[in-house]
Amino acid sequence: MTAPARGSEALEPLASPKAGSPRSRILGTGSFLPDVTRSNAELEKLVDTNDAWIRERTGIRERRIAPDGMVTSDMAAEAARRALAMAELSASDLDLIVCATVTPDMPMPATAVFVQQKIGAKCASFDLSAACAGFIFGMSIADQFIKGGAAKNVLVIGVELLSRVVNWADRTTCVLFGDGAGAAVIGPSAGDRGIIGTRICSDGSLAESLMIPGGGSREPMDEARIRDRRNKVHMKGQDIFKAAVRNLYSASQELVDACGVTNDQVDWVVPHQANMRIIDQVTARANYPKEKVLSNIERVGNTSSASIPILLDERVKDGTVKPNDLVLMCALGAGVSWGSALVRM
Ligand code: ACO
Repeated sequence: MTAPARGSEALEPLASPKAGSPRSRILGTGSFLPDVTRSNAELEKLVDTNDAWIRERTGIRERRIAPDGMVTSDMAAEAARRALAMAELSASDLDLIVCATVTPDMPMPATAVFVQQKIGAKCASFDLSAACAGFIFGMSIADQFIKGGAAKNVLVIGVELLSRVVNWADRTTCVLFGDGAGAAVIGPSAGDRGIIGTRICSDGSLAESLMIPGGGSREPMDEARIRDRRNKVHMKGQDIFKAAVRNLYSASQELVDACGVTNDQVDWVVPHQANMRIIDQVTARANYPKEKVLSNIERVGNTSSASIPILLDERVKDGTVKPNDLVLMCALGAGVSWGSALVRM
C-alpha cells in the first residue's frame, strides 16, 4: 500500500466539533502580570523608536517586565492558583498540566513540572511549543483528553517571559513583547456550556520567519553566537503579519461555520494580542463589530501564549464575559502555528 503524502496533510486543520459528544468546559481562569511596566517612552532611550510609531503600528503603549529572580514557572504557578480558586478546585484535583511556552525555565525538564511542584499537584505535566498559538493548542489537547475520558480536570497554562529572549537593541522586535501568564482549569460539562470546537494548524514553510535560532542542536551556543544574538528573537515582521491576517481569518471562519453558528451569534472575539492592526484586519474581514472584539494590547503588549488567557481572565473577572456567552478565540505565532476555539462560557 502506498503511504499517503505527508506534505499537504501537515497543513490540514484538526477540528473537534462533534454533535452530541460530551463537552469540556472552562471551570476557572486566572492570570498574572508582573508589576513593573516598561513604557514606549522608556524604549525611546534604548533604541531609535518613538511612542507615536509604536502606537500607530502596533497599538502598544506599555508592557510588563518580570523582575530579576522571577522565572517563567513562578508566573505560571500564580496564574494557575488563581484559576484553581475560581474553579473551586485544589491542585490535587488535577489530572494533567499542559504548559504552553517558548520561554521555559530551562530546556529540560519541562516548566510544567516546576509548576506542578509549586502548586502542589501530582499529575502528569508537560510543555507544549506552539508559540503564540500555544494556549489554543493546549485547550484542544485538554478537550480531547476530557472527552476521551483520559482526564477529568486539566490545567492549561500560557506563559511567557519574553523580555529575557528579546534583543533589546533590535527596534523591530523589542517594542512588541511583554511578560505574563494566563491559565484555565478545564473539566467536564454537564450541559450546553463548554468547548464547542477547536481547530489547530501548522505551516512549517514559514518556520524561519520567527525564531530563536541558537541554543538548540542546530546552533549550540558559543561565544560567537552569543555575540551575534543568535539566542534572541529573530523575526521577519511582514511575513508574520500577512500569515496572521490570512490564517486567523480562515481558521476562525471555518470553525464558526463547522460548528453551525453564524458570526452574529458570537458574543465576544478574544484574539491573540499580537498587533492591533492584525486584529482589526481579521475581525473587519469577518464583520465582527469593534465593540465585540476584546483587547488589552495597549497595556500588556504581545505576551505570546499568555495573551488569550490573560485577556479572557481579565474580562471574565470584570464581568464583561458572562456565563453562556459565546466566545471565539484565535491565535497565530511562530511555526507558523495557528488555531481557533469556540467556547460557550
Ligand atoms: N520604531 C521606529 N521605526 C521602526 C521600528 C520601531 N520600533 N521598527 C521598524 N521600524 C522601521 C523599519 O526599519 C522601516 O524603516 P525603513 O522604511 O527605513 O526600512 C519602517 O519602520 C517600516 O518597517 P516595516 O517592517 O515595514 O513596518 P511594519 O508596518 O510592517 O510594522 C511590525 C512592523 C510592527 C513588526 C509588523 O510587521 C508586525 O506587527 N508584524 C507582525 C509581527 C508580530 O506580531 N510578531 C509577534 C509574534 S507573532 C504573533 O504574535 C502573530
